[in-house]
Amino acid sequence: MSGKIIAVYSLKGGVGKTTLAVNLAWEAATLSKRRTLLWDLDAQAAATYLLRHDKGHSTEAQAAIRREMNPAKLILKSKFGNLDLLPADPSLRDLDVIFRDLGKKKRLSNLASELAERYDRIIIDCPPGLTDTSEQILRAADLVIVPVIPSALSRRALEMINQHVGRHKGLAVPLLPVFSMVDRRRTLHREALMAEPDWPVIPMASGFEAMSERREPLGNFTPRRSAGVQAVAQLWARIEADLTRTS
Ligand SMILES: Nc1ncnc2c1ncn2[C@@H]1O[C@H](COP(=O)(O)OP(=O)(O)OP(=O)(O)O)[C@@H](O)[C@H]1O
Ligand SMILES: [Mg+2]
Repeated sequence: MSGKIIAVYSLKGGVGKTTLAVNLAWEAATLSKRRTLLWDLDAQAAATYLLRHDKGHSTEAQAAIRREMNPAKLILKSKFGNLDLLPADPSLRDLDVIFRDLGKKKRLSNLASELAERYDRIIIDCPPGLTDTSEQILRAADLVIVPVIPSALSRRALEMINQHVGRHKGLAVPLLPVFSMVDRRRTLHREALMAEPDWPVIPMASGFEAMSERREPLGNFTPRRSAGVQAVAQLWARIEADLTRTS
């Protein structure tokens, strides 16, 4: 059976996509023992950096999307068992142009399906935007995680993604909104959570910020009982349950 593709995506920037993608991938690999691939599709290469790889000025990531080289050849091992990385590099800066040039709506979906023969779970860290790239991502994924900071603007971004998916017949992918960077001391945040009691919640926690200094997933340097690690574990359990239900 081929693996499942989980995209962490929002059209909004800075909402916690990369943070979630890296921690979910770690959770899938180390605790669920899934053969896991973290696929960094963002030219900022933040997920690549967080797993301690630096790809400098390489252009291979673009070549893989163009099928000028085999993406499997780019895959790097992480220092965690079961967790591999398909790294990003600055050549993904023009990803929208690349997809438009190629004119193949299913390019990402086909590449992901091929990789899913070797992995149980592929987690894609997506660049922000509602573009040709996001359309490819929405087509490729089995489940799309949308981090939403409890604010009107973040919710609006989610509504726009929902409308976009609704407009396109080929895009029947389920979306799972997740409250991100939640501070329960704030009235606005508490009210937002009460309005959507079913959405998973990731708290605001300094440990998540420390990841960029330590360059490792939160669970690798924080006790299992900490609020942040537990929230990621609960989210991962929910994702596994949703994937089982929809397959
Ligand atoms: N739950 C959290 N608690 C505290 N800080 C967080 C949390 N999640 C993310 N951050 C911090 O917020 C910033 C943005 O997070 P991140 O890079 O994951 O967002 P992003 O959506 O991937 O951004 P971009 O759109 O630029 O790719 C980072 O500095 C990160 O450390
Ligand atoms: Mg990011």
